[in-house]
Amino acid sequence: MHKITVISSGPGSADFMTLLAHRKASASEVLIGTALQLGAVDTSNCKIMYEESKIDKILKLIGMHEGQEVGVLVTGDAGIFSLTQKIIVLYGRDAIKEIIPGVSSIQVGFAKIKEAWTNVKAFSFHGREISGLDEIIAAEKAVILCDKVNNAAELLRRLDAVGLFKDNRRVYVCQNLTLEDEDITEINCIEDVKGLKEWTKQIVLLLKPAI
Ligand SMILES: C[S@@+](CC[C@H](N)C(=O)[O-])C[C@H]1O[C@@H](n2cnc3c(N)ncnc32)[C@H](O)[C@@H]1O
Repeated sequence: MHKITVISSGPGSADFMTLLAHRKASASEVLIGTALQLGAVDTSNCKIMYEESKIDKILKLIGMHEGQEVGVLVTGDAGIFSLTQKIIVLYGRDAIKEIIPGVSSIQVGFAKIKEAWTNVKAFSFHGREISGLDEIIAAEKAVILCDKVNNAAELLRRLDAVGLFKDNRRVYVCQNLTLEDEDITEINCIEDVKGLKEWTKQIVLLLKPAI
């Protein structure tokens, strides 16, 4: 029987992990996470730690420790576009002992621009083909999670081709949220994407003007 605790670790800085998340991570027999996530918690009582970021490898490591208290640190909140869903598909819902909720990059992004995230439509092209651009354009408020290939500049170029900047929409690219090099850039026209980093952790926020 698996005893997996999925621990939301926030978007990066240890300050954005809840106290409960810190406690659960420290109490895990086996703890899996990225270097940044492992570095944020007290691991002195953990028996085994794995520094890993590749999804397939994390899933394999979980499989090697059936019966043990396995803590899996996941980015942001475990409930949205997360490794959590892949763990459930592979090992079943009963394999999960507990999910510890946390702060999503989406919450932090909207807090940074001082806007509510009520009714936000969330899209992720992290490891997925870009599609449904019309749905993004139609949304009053949208957030897009990016990846190395489908990065903010690429997404904004594709959205520009279907009229993104035609209706005075506010567009922001949030990079490395909660980290030292955090950057929030407002994009007013497609030329502005030239100032963006090639690749880093990025989300794009799109807000139509209030009617
Ligand atoms: C697999 S998804 C995980 C999303 C996560 N469940 C959440 O709640 O934020 C990874 C994507 O989230 C976004 N992301 C995660 N951390 C971020 C950060 N510190 N700054 C900006 N975007 C971030 C990026 O788009 C990244 O490619």
